[in-house]
Amino acid sequence: MKNQYLFILVMLICSTVFQSCKSDPQSPGVEYMPDMYRTDAIETYQEDSLRNGGFSALKPVKNSIPRGFDVYPYDNTAEGYESAGAELRNPIPCTPVVIEEAQLLYSKFCVHCHGGAGEGDGMVVKSKNWPGPPPAYNSAQLKDLPEGKIFHSIHYGKGMMGSHASQISKEDRWKLVHYVQKLQGKEKPCDGTKSNDSDGDGVEDNIDQCPETPGSPDYFGCPEVEAEVAQVMEEAIKGVNFATGSSKIKKSSYDVLVKVKEVLLKYPNYVLLVNGHTDNKGDFDKNMELSKSRANAVMDYLTSHGINSDHVSAHGYGSTKPLASNDSKDGRAKNRRVEFRIVY
Ligand code: HEC
Repeated sequence: MKNQYLFILVMLICSTVFQSCKSDPQSPGVEYMPDMYRTDAIETYQEDSLRNGGFSALKPVKNSIPRGFDVYPYDNTAEGYESAGAELRNPIPCTPVVIEEAQLLYSKFCVHCHGGAGEGDGMVVKSKNWPGPPPAYNSAQLKDLPEGKIFHSIHYGKGMMGSHASQISKEDRWKLVHYVQKLQGKEKPCDGTKSNDSDGDGVEDNIDQCPETPGSPDYFGCPEVEAEVAQVMEEAIKGVNFATGSSKIKKSSYDVLVKVKEVLLKYPNYVLLVNGHTDNKGDFDKNMELSKSRANAVMDYLTSHGINSDHVSAHGYGSTKPLASNDSKDGRAKNRRVEFRIVY
């Protein structure tokens, strides 16, 4: 009996000793309260030895985009910079309120390097450890920088300037572009240095549907057209409808689109502007996209029914040109529209 106990004791000691000397030299063997000296903190996506060698989280599918994340289609390369400069246009209309908001953003994010007047004399770059101040915005190097390049540089950063894409929303970055241009001394309608009415027809640019062609207030700043043409365009504004939230033209709209097509065939010197607008509900960029794709759908319909693409052009303005207040249901319904304007 005594021997039996002794045997069990020896076996227990041996198994403990051999357990701690496994063949894997990396294995810690038996540990007494491992959590006391080994942290269980795991980096995201790190291979996790404590949990069966799996991953602590699944990686997103390749090329997938987080919800609400905005894809900026230009690469951080010299070519991307040039294309952004040539193609990007500021979607935010410049108003005194926008300039005021941009000034506040500038004072938080930019002033310490670029200085209050954009002369490149912020307090950080004055430090003797800083390699060299940024050029003044109105210097020969920067004064003619296209707005797309300004946006691109704020998005990705440039040289010693870091990217601001994660701190400042896209909308606010475009507001900053207006502010940088103001500091460059560019004439902007929002600061009173440029007329709000480019074609001088008495209809201000932000509501002028033909801002570069003098027109009449009765035609939203577009030139007067034959009464029958004006009537067809009015019918089209009311009669062209889309499936909710999509750019699919409803079948009931085809009759009026055929009339629009006939007008364009009858008056070959007319150019039709198809302007898409939304109310201000929902995401700013999505509205911009939807208004553009609806205007494009109308343009595609007309060009696939015999209208030359030189005679029709489509534009999306999102929620930037409201006709009525967005605070009421009626106002929002007025603001959701596709306009048909003739220029010649
Ligand atoms: C850490 C300092 C720093 C901050 C903060 C900073 N910048 Fe810059 N910025 C620079 C420097 C340095 C350059 C010159 C980069 C170069 O050409 O190498 C520059 C260049 C620029 C340019 C010219 C870009 C080009 O394409 O040549 C613009 C426009 C600009 N900054 C705007 C801004 C705005 C707007 C902000 C605030 C959102 C800002 N910067 C914040 C340091 C800064």
